[in-house]
Amino acid sequence: MRTLSAPLPGGTWTLGDLTVTRFGYGAMQLAGPWVMGPPADRDGALAVLREAAGLGITHIDTADAYGPRFTNQLIREALHPYPDSLHIVTKVGATRNHDGGWPPARRPDDLRRAVHENLENLGLETLDVVNLRLGDAQGPQPGSLAEAFETLVELQRQGLIRHLGVSNATAEQVAEAQATAPIVCVQNMYNLAHRQDDGLIDELAEQGIAYVPFFPLGGFSPLQSSALTAVASRLDATPMSVALAWLLQRSPNILLIPGTSSVAHLRENIAGAGLSLSDEDLAELDKIGR
Ligand SMILES: NC(=O)c1ccc[n+]([C@@H]2O[C@H](COP(=O)([O-])OP(=O)(O)OC[C@H]3O[C@@H](n4cnc5c(N)ncnc54)[C@H](OP(=O)(O)O)[C@@H]3O)[C@@H](O)[C@H]2O)c1
Repeated sequence: MRTLSAPLPGGTWTLGDLTVTRFGYGAMQLAGPWVMGPPADRDGALAVLREAAGLGITHIDTADAYGPRFTNQLIREALHPYPDSLHIVTKVGATRNHDGGWPPARRPDDLRRAVHENLENLGLETLDVVNLRLGDAQGPQPGSLAEAFETLVELQRQGLIRHLGVSNATAEQVAEAQATAPIVCVQNMYNLAHRQDDGLIDELAEQGIAYVPFFPLGGFSPLQSSALTAVASRLDATPMSVALAWLLQRSPNILLIPGTSSVAHLRENIAGAGLSLSDEDLAELDKIGR
């Protein structure tokens, strides 16, 4: 059984001046169906968060749009007052409508309100990292982020945000943000089957900037591939373990934030992500997304 002192797979990474475990936790799945409303099993959701922190995870990814608000309020209830070592990364730039959609909310007033709501719901005076979420449900979309990003830089100057990042962003938008202020992370969709950001990951690695893939396990459509199944069965592991281990081995700047509403899956994922993949395994897995 894992103990509090056992290191998590992947070791640690530094976001600006904040050390986080490369194995983190994505809290989106704690809200109700389609990330709307409270969880069906509230005590179970609180237990997952406490287990994540208890097992040594020091990076939790969230957003006030999850629920909306419910996920952040659960994090606060489960873990506040937060240990100094725990870092919560949130995002602003999208809101929720009554249909469960994610319309953009990137005007300066929207962003200021979102930062204050995150602070309130998480019970914090400063947000460790705030990602500006761009694009839409179809993925990144071209266009300048200048006004929105400058608004966050202003909130950072006011002491409400420690570090900035971007999410669902094109490579051009990442560069535009960096020309305005330092960023510590990029959070985009990426996994074994979605490799559009391969070049961006390598560029960010050279710059010491974290790449945080969302949907590392496929999100709402779990990863399925005959090659993945074959490698997993050869290693006597689950496909989820192989998918996470592959990400950790893909590049040292990749931080994991797999989501789960289950303590058993959380434990399984931590145990599985430490799997060592051989060159032969990697070559076979490499074909999935190419
Ligand atoms: N920036 C953005 O625009 C954006 C968009 C989406 C997500 N995110 C962030 O990225 C995080 C990760 O994405 P995600 O949670 O949507 O997707 P994910 O991590 O790819 O997959 C989560 C799904 O996998 C299942 N799962 C996890 N471990 C499993 C296991 N061992 N066996 C079987 N099923 C397992 C979960 O179900 P169970 O609950 O049953 O375990 C859940 O349905 C989110 O939590 C969120 O913080 C960001």
